[in-house]
Amino acid sequence: MATPCNVVVLISGGGSNLQALMDSIGTGDVPARITAVLSNRADAYGLRRAEQAGIETVVLDHKAYEGREAFDAALIQAIDARGADLVVLAGFMRILSAGFVRHYEGRLLNIHPSLLPKHKGLHTHQRVLEAGEAEHGCSVHFVTEELDGGPLVVQAVIPVRPDDTPESLAQRVHVQEHLIYPLAVRWFAEGRLRLGVAGAELDGEPLPASGRSIRH
Ligand code: GAR
Repeated sequence: MATPCNVVVLISGGGSNLQALMDSIGTGDVPARITAVLSNRADAYGLRRAEQAGIETVVLDHKAYEGREAFDAALIQAIDARGADLVVLAGFMRILSAGFVRHYEGRLLNIHPSLLPKHKGLHTHQRVLEAGEAEHGCSVHFVTEELDGGPLVVQAVIPVRPDDTPESLAQRVHVQEHLIYPLAVRWFAEGRLRLGVAGAELDGEPLPASGRSIRH
């Protein structure tokens, strides 16, 4: 059997996306293994999820470092010590330095709760409702130096209903996140997904600018 893809997951919170990844990899049909889960917060519930699954956890408190560069250097050291082929940001709520992003170019994925490039940053569900948009969703993308930017891999699109609230949207978007993140990680682990010069490629073909679209 080919060597599995070593994945390191970075979290800051509940870790429901981490759980979806662990469940997907746990089925045995994704050629990947999660070697460690890193968090910048010791109270992140996702750490408990990882422990329950027997995965190594590491806490690096950003407040203990003098500035972003020093924290990111420690993060790089911790990740590289675990031999990561792929680094997965799963609700990791820290802005990463250019040096960090460059270090993991082509092997750093993020998930964001909006149809990027719309609604980068926080409070995406609220902002979609305020803008009166008909559609919302989530995006997996390769990370570049731009916050919540970078070539898109896959998006799930859901309709916004007249009675939606930020909470109801968050819940439906989360369900979609738990489908598209494991899918993107599977593609990467299978060697089907890569970052080419012009953007993300799947099976050697360029993906559209909005990535593979899954509509509901
Ligand atoms: C997810 O909704 C993810 O899209 C978002 O944080 C949440 C983490 O949930 N990420 C961002 O907003 C990144 N800009 P989880 O801890 O339950 O996986």
